[in-house]
Amino acid sequence: TPVAAVIPAAGRGVRLGPGAPKALRALNGTPMLIHAVRALAASRHVSLVIVVAPPDGAAEVKSLLDAHALPVSTDFLVVPGGESRQESVRLGLDALPPQYGIVLVHDAARPLVPVETVDAVVEAVRDGAPAVVPALALADTVKEVEPAAAAGDPEPVVATPERSRLRAVQTPQGFDRATLVRAHETVTENVTDDASMVEQLGLTVVAVPGHEEAFKVTRPLDLVLAEAVLARRRL
Ligand code: CTP
Ligand code: MG
Repeated sequence: TPVAAVIPAAGRGVRLGPGAPKALRALNGTPMLIHAVRALAASRHVSLVIVVAPPDGAAEVKSLLDAHALPVSTDFLVVPGGESRQESVRLGLDALPPQYGIVLVHDAARPLVPVETVDAVVEAVRDGAPAVVPALALADTVKEVEPAAAAGDPEPVVATPERSRLRAVQTPQGFDRATLVRAHETVTENVTDDASMVEQLGLTVVAVPGHEEAFKVTRPLDLVLAEAVLARRRL
């Protein structure tokens, strides 16, 4: 069954600081979004990429994609995004042609994901999992706190989950298409990833090994790291 990737790229990138929408910022001279599209198109499984552009930036994104060569075996579509990541993903799913039975959802903000990670996710969906996430063990101990009313105030610690059972999850997350569509139709509260919506349907989500280079570019230091990784790849 054919595989499509939806790439939500409609966020502003508030945590990165002032400037262009995050997905359009350059990494070593090439927009982050182009790196992300190439990373997904590098998988021989992926035959369509749907980019969800900033609401007023669809034309700009379309011309960027036209200007940067993609593998001829990968088609692309551009649709305008929404107010939340969740809404942007749903708008991408709405544009998905009928023949695609497997969908990957990949943050434009994870431009350096290796093709091995993409392929591992696709293969786990092909093996029958309705939802698959790439995941990494944590370096830091994680605490649950009672969030402070004002930023900077001390916060009481509520619990310390056992670190060895925790995973940081990345993208692309992979789905049986009908399952993901149903999740987006059913779950209305705000979530921070797509797989958690499938969990809410009562289905089992599985984790496969993620990759350090699939980190999300969120804060200014992440730009430094991303450019260093790219420079190392060129050596
Ligand atoms: N995203 C989107 N539509 C939105 C919000 C986010 O398509 N309304 C996308 C972003 O473009 C990004 C991915 O979801 O590729 C992950 O979101 P995040 O890293 O939070 O990016 P931003 O929302 O842009 O950043 P910030 O939260 O710092 O503003
Ligand atoms: Mg955000």
